[in-house]
Amino acid sequence: MLRWQLLLLSIFPLTALCLKWSTESLKSINPLIGTTGPEPNLSGGMIASVAPPFASMRWVVQTQNSYVSQTPFNYSKEYAENGVVYGFMGTRQPAIWMGESAWAGVVPGMTKGVEERIKAKFEDRRLIRTPGSEVFGVGMYNVDLEIPGTQGSNVHVDMTATSRVGHFRFVFTAPNSSSKFNPYIFLPTTRAATVFHSSDTFVTTFPNGTVELHPYNSSSPLEICGSNDEMLDWIIAPTSIQEPASHFRGWYCARFDMESSAHSVGHGVVQGDTQMEGATSGHGEELGAYARFALPSNSSSLTVYVRIAGSFISADQARANLDFEIPDIEATDIEGTQANTEEMWAEKVGRFDIEAGGDSDVLGDMKTVFFTGIFHAMQYPYEVHEQIPGPSGASHYYSAYDNSIHDGHSYSGYSIWDTYRAEWALQLLLAPERIPGMIRSMLQDYEEGGWLPMWKNIIETNIMVGTHADSLLAEAVLKGFGPVVRSDATGKVEFEASFTNDELRTLWAAAWKDASVPPRDDQTTTYSDREEGVDYEVRAGLSTFYGDGSRGWVADDVHSESVSRTLDYACKPIFFVISLVVHQLKFLPDDDHALFVLSLLLPEEIISSIPNIPPNVSQFLNQRALKNPWTVWNPDASVTTSDGNGQIQGFVQARKANGEWADITSGFTEGDRWVYSFAFVHDVSQLVERRGGNASFVRSLDEFFDGGWADFTNEPAHHTPYLYALAGAPTHAQERVRQIARTNYNSTPNGLSGNEDCGQMSAWYIFSAMGFYPVNPVSGEYVVGSPFFSSLSLHLPVPSFIPRSPPHPSLTSSNQFYDPTTDSYILRISAPGAESKPYVKGLKVNGKVVEEPLIKHNDIRFGGLLEFDMSDQPEAWGEEEDLGLRLHLLLIRCRWI
Ligand SMILES: *[C@@H]1O[C@H](CO)[C@@H](O)[C@H](O)[C@H]1NC(C)=O
Ligand SMILES: *[C@@H]1O[C@H](CO)[C@@H](O)[C@H](O)[C@H]1NC(C)=O
Ligand SMILES: *[C@@H]1O[C@H](CO)[C@@H](O)[C@H](O)[C@H]1NC(C)=O
Ligand SMILES: *[C@@H]1O[C@H](CO)[C@@H](O)[C@H](O)[C@H]1NC(C)=O
Ligand SMILES: *[C@@H]1O[C@H](CO)[C@@H](O)[C@H](O)[C@H]1NC(C)=O
Ligand SMILES: *[C@@H]1O[C@H](CO)[C@@H](O)[C@H](O)[C@H]1NC(C)=O
Ligand SMILES: *[C@@H]1O[C@H](CO)[C@@H](O)[C@H](O)[C@H]1NC(C)=O
Ligand SMILES: *[C@@H]1O[C@H](CO)[C@@H](O)[C@H](O)[C@H]1NC(C)=O
Repeated sequence: MLRWQLLLLSIFPLTALCLKWSTESLKSINPLIGTTGPEPNLSGGMIASVAPPFASMRWVVQTQNSYVSQTPFNYSKEYAENGVVYGFMGTRQPAIWMGESAWAGVVPGMTKGVEERIKAKFEDRRLIRTPGSEVFGVGMYNVDLEIPGTQGSNVHVDMTATSRVGHFRFVFTAPNSSSKFNPYIFLPTTRAATVFHSSDTFVTTFPNGTVELHPYNSSSPLEICGSNDEMLDWIIAPTSIQEPASHFRGWYCARFDMESSAHSVGHGVVQGDTQMEGATSGHGEELGAYARFALPSNSSSLTVYVRIAGSFISADQARANLDFEIPDIEATDIEGTQANTEEMWAEKVGRFDIEAGGDSDVLGDMKTVFFTGIFHAMQYPYEVHEQIPGPSGASHYYSAYDNSIHDGHSYSGYSIWDTYRAEWALQLLLAPERIPGMIRSMLQDYEEGGWLPMWKNIIETNIMVGTHADSLLAEAVLKGFGPVVRSDATGKVEFEASFTNDELRTLWAAAWKDASVPPRDDQTTTYSDREEGVDYEVRAGLSTFYGDGSRGWVADDVHSESVSRTLDYACKPIFFVISLVVHQLKFLPDDDHALFVLSLLLPEEIISSIPNIPPNVSQFLNQRALKNPWTVWNPDASVTTSDGNGQIQGFVQARKANGEWADITSGFTEGDRWVYSFAFVHDVSQLVERRGGNASFVRSLDEFFDGGWADFTNEPAHHTPYLYALAGAPTHAQERVRQIARTNYNSTPNGLSGNEDCGQMSAWYIFSAMGFYPVNPVSGEYVVGSPFFSSLSLHLPVPSFIPRSPPHPSLTSSNQFYDPTTDSYILRISAPGAESKPYVKGLKVNGKVVEEPLIKHNDIRFGGLLEFDMSDQPEAWGEEEDLGLRLHLLLIRCRWI
């Protein structure tokens, strides 16, 4: 019964999807943002790909070979000036420091006559971009490429894609109709693949694969299918799943249109240096297959359409994906595919309207960063499931955790250490239709592999520290994706269940396991970054943090990154939001609705379904969260400020098993003791106290930023500017946020200062531009910063847990922010003059004056109105009284231009 209701509910978002959102805003996206940089860590690590949101495979023009630390596309200076292209790649590499797997490729070329060898080797595949011909869009990419050695022949390429199928049109043109050139399409299938080992060594490996050609006949078009077993991150898979994961294989099937198939005049298989003309199958290393074509007798040009589908299951499944997503009848309708993909992007990007005044160049740049940010933030995690062949419409997916096929939806590309900060909060608002599937996917990983994901790239990779999946689950349940919630007063259904009780039990068991079970051989394994040959890392060091003796810190002489771990574990044993929110209430008062939701969140029978769970588990976890992180706080550590006039007292510091302090540089990941001393997002009030109160805490933040300690290219710094606002100095937050936005983001290929990390960099910008940020993502609150635009409105989709019949009050005329024509909640953010006025003088939320720099999720979840009164000078709004005056004096050196 419950399942049936869930099914019905899951149909509703489809009605919303049928609405057409304006594609106008897509023009403000620049897919080149974040696609280059002087080195991998100072690049966004993004690619200018085409595919819909959360697409299974993203298609991109290939400008370089790809492996961990290098993406297939790099809009480098060399490429910008003198573009050399090696073909087109369907990639599953989710971030620059992650590995490729289950990729596919398409490379056009021409030979003189049908005897000449085709160019299969990567370096030989060079095609030269015609200057000015390249156009990057989210749903279409076009380019003209000169084919070297063919006396000026060229190929015009149009590329678009659905989630699982790339769609190409190649228009080959020879100098004239009597020139004897033959176009070909080459499908690289296995390659010499570079594997990155933690010791900074790159090792060439040779994945194995298969190809199979089905030549054209009068009833069937030409088709080429293949597979490869490349999975570059397999070397860092937990040992307990390495065997099942070793069977992993990606498949593709490329199908040509009937007309170009009729022009095919040969085919073959390439393996290394050997070309087997006429072969229809092959297997092995450095493998590929090709089809040759003849130009029509009366023309110098030939158009070839190719659809190429990927699958994690089989060649037949790839074929089915192709038939489902771009059936034969649409083989040549590349504009149709483009339109569908653009509509899917418009459903996300078109939900935002920005009106802004002021310097139009600067603003154009900011809007482009903003809209491109949404394009980046809605790519990962990506779909792994595929539709079961036949009429059922249901999906199944291949799991490398147990080398089996299961029913349901699954996703990959979870960079959770990054995305739990703000990216998930953004997805909860903007892509609620995906949340239950993404969460089920995490629960499946737990059931199939034993643990929730940390950094899932097809399989777990043990990248980064902590088990922040706990935070994703808690935040989602807190925001409505949980059990049925009934109104206290009337007993009516407030929120429908997003999960069955069985699923909730699994969810709780999985989160509790993270919090209570150390990894294998925890006492003897370092679990260093990219350590090979170790099992699931999860909360490495938990046995000293939680078990016998319960020191409360992760010992630095046993484990890598010990301080980061101690803090990360403590801040997020969080299923336990209840306790954290209760604590927060001292500081962030009256979140009645969150408490109401939470009181129903963890039904007692679900909590107690775990054997041997501590009797009062929320109390237990709360105590641990509030005590353990402070075990690495060294109150005696101090630093003289850079102006020489003061001292910053108290820093986090690594500790050895025996309790001694370790070196001050030890124990951190993507940061140092400066930034990690600000990591107590769940306990800011105590942090402020330990740094000597608000004024002194604010000084320490100033020193952090002005003394050159803040590194925004990595995530631990992302929330830090907002801490000012929690310490009574919101004007400082307002300045810093604007300054960070200006210096770390712009609309050029080098426009992201650090790796995008599956959307977290952009999520920071999007929230900041809206004027608030989820400092503690499970608090149900956002901290106010400084909105960037005079007017921004957002049409929030209605989540599936909102009852439709009888309609939830938020869907009736009692909610002035519900817009029935778009079936969405409208959130309006008005901040007249914000473009040149960074300071906040006053704020009204839904008509009510707000004095504290905080916005509740409940105030915006059904739409709302945020009215900012902006100012060009620091204002007292939201400041702690006695601090205020002093800060005004300090602010004379205002950094805002
Ligand atoms: C892009 O290419 C440039 C020039 O070759 C190189 O310096 C840089 O490291 C590359 N960046 C990435 C992210 O691949
Ligand atoms: C770059 O980032 C990677 C991944 O975060 C890290 O392992 C590496 O140490 C960094 N390299 C440099 C030179 O900072
Ligand atoms: C056609 O092109 C070929 C190859 O470029 C060239 O040799 C030939 O002269 C051209 N013929 C005409 C009629 O232009
Ligand atoms: C490569 O794959 C083929 C076909 O699946 C198989 O027969 C062969 O044994 C494999 N070779 C290696 C070295 O694994
Ligand atoms: C045409 O090719 C298809 C696919 O390879 C095959 O199933 C079919 O039997 C062929 N038909 C004829 C008439 O050869
Ligand atoms: C070439 O011949 C084909 C088939 O006869 C015909 O459909 C096409 O219109 C002709 N194209 C040109 C450019 O004459
Ligand atoms: C659990 O502990 C909390 C906090 O100390 C307390 O408020 C609550 O009443 C306790 N619950 C039970 C069931 O004992
Ligand atoms: C610090 O500032 C916050 C925010 O304005 C305020 O709530 C808190 O009471 C202040 N703390 C002290 C100790 O004054």
